[in-house]
Amino acid sequence: MSELSRVERSVLDLLRSAPGIHSSAELTEKLDVTRAAVSKAVARLRDRGYGVESKASAGYRLASLPDRLYPELIQHGLQTEFTGQEIVHFAKTDSTNTQAASLANEGAPEGLLVVAETQTAGRGRLGRSWSSPANTNFYGSFVLRPSLPPIAAAQITLLTGLCVARSLETVAGLRTRIKWPNDVLVEGRKICGILTESSSELDRVNWLVIGIGVNLNVRKFPEELEEIATSAAIETGKPVDRADFTRELCSQLESHYLRFVSGGFGPLRDDWERYARMAGEEVIVGTGSEDIEGRSLGLDSDGFLQVETPDGRIVRIVAGDVTLKKGVHRK
Ligand code: BTN
Repeated sequence: MSELSRVERSVLDLLRSAPGIHSSAELTEKLDVTRAAVSKAVARLRDRGYGVESKASAGYRLASLPDRLYPELIQHGLQTEFTGQEIVHFAKTDSTNTQAASLANEGAPEGLLVVAETQTAGRGRLGRSWSSPANTNFYGSFVLRPSLPPIAAAQITLLTGLCVARSLETVAGLRTRIKWPNDVLVEGRKICGILTESSSELDRVNWLVIGIGVNLNVRKFPEELEEIATSAAIETGKPVDRADFTRELCSQLESHYLRFVSGGFGPLRDDWERYARMAGEEVIVGTGSEDIEGRSLGLDSDGFLQVETPDGRIVRIVAGDVTLKKGVHRK
């Protein structure tokens, strides 16, 4: 379904601006359009799932909003400069990362967000798939264009985990824990995964696509995920407003990203550590080429994980799969 037109959006804004009934006369006057145009806009809003009641000759009242990731819902009250100012919404797509990458190649602006209600080929790290049931979670990909060397991709992925953790806390009252480098967990079960893809020159990033999947309202997982995944609704017993969550994520991402671009990862490190609480843990980190065992010293100011091996060496690792030696991530 295509985006709302300017008139449709203005009708919606007016209906949202105050509860109660808005007369056709008020709408036609304020928007300087005909009655027929107002009634056409209302029909379109209803088609999109808005509960617009009409009271005989009195006018229209907005009774309910749809549970969708529509741009107009996310952007309602959004106070960012660029993050989420442009949103592409799909009812269904293969993968928001794939769509965002092709838009980035075509010159999409920094801050563009691609969201989908469901993905038919949602991708995870290491070639895994990402379970994407419809109309219940957050699946989205942001395009960023930092004028920085390629290592920034790993650091921006780290700060995205922090943004998701903060957004879940603000919108759902849920405390989570970051698992380095880019998972967000609740009591050892995964609630969010992040997949960053990029196009870079040798010394400079062209674009980054930060793909984020957050289990918000799903209550039942496929059997293979039952033991290892969770959602905000399962943890808190209450559904999360997905548009509110997305708006919060846009503003968290913009403020953390701007801090990072001006001051590097250092100023964000303490905040990140508070959510990760990794320092001092005995870990095994699989880097693909080897398994490094030792005691985690937390992150350095570049966002590298530092591990002290039993022979006293300190190894810096940019990304990998970390397991706590006790097997389960500490609560
Ligand atoms: C992982 O933990 O393996 C990363 C999962 C990333 C999933 C998200 S959902 C939105 C975006 N589109 C994708 O195809 N993947 C990311």
